[in-house]
Amino acid sequence: MEPIVNKNNLHCFAVAATELPLALLLEADPDVAHINSYLSRGQGYGVALNGETVAVAVSVPLTTTSAELINIAVSPSYQQQGIGAMLLRFVIASLRQQGCQRIELGTGTFGHQLTFYQRHGFRVDKVLKNHFIENYPEPIWESGIQHQDMLWLTLNL
Ligand SMILES: CC(C)(COP(=O)(O)OP(=O)(O)OC[C@H]1O[C@@H](n2cnc3c(N)ncnc32)[C@H](O)[C@@H]1OP(=O)(O)O)[C@@H](O)C(=O)NCCC(=O)NCCS
Repeated sequence: MEPIVNKNNLHCFAVAATELPLALLLEADPDVAHINSYLSRGQGYGVALNGETVAVAVSVPLTTTSAELINIAVSPSYQQQGIGAMLLRFVIASLRQQGCQRIELGTGTFGHQLTFYQRHGFRVDKVLKNHFIENYPEPIWESGIQHQDMLWLTLNL
């Protein structure tokens, strides 16, 4: 498939996490209450295409030298064109520049998202059994599979 995005028209930016479009944040995290619990303490990042935000990410500090990548999402019509990878590289570079030495994240899918993170050097750290069952009010489904356990990944910078 021919890419529909001209890479020259894309640019990454950092912004207050509260400024990011909720509709995109919900692509990665379907729980509005959970999203609201971290936005005010988060650092926001985005990718703009001709002025439109087509991808978002949020990191939150864990310690003075580590951060959690708590949300990353690309608008569905722009996925699989390298925009997520571009944004992830930008987040990693931004955090590294701020003195961050370790990025952590949790994912409920062991499919293409896992490949996506592993390509950028993330390693599996642990499995949090029943995390999605015990911490989310509604069951979360993807590709016909209910999220149950959370896979915790880390990247040392
Ligand atoms: C995960 C996500 C951010 C990836 O962004 P993206 O722009 O689609 O990804 P990219 O085009 O940069 O792809 C980079 C790599 O990711 C993998 N990948 C991404 N989407 C994939 C898909 N649907 N199927 C298979 N592999 C995929 C591939 O390994 C790809 O490598 P390639 O370039 O060699 O094909 C995006 O799919 C998304 O927003 N998903 C919904 C929200 C979500 O699941 N967020 C993460 C929660 S843990």
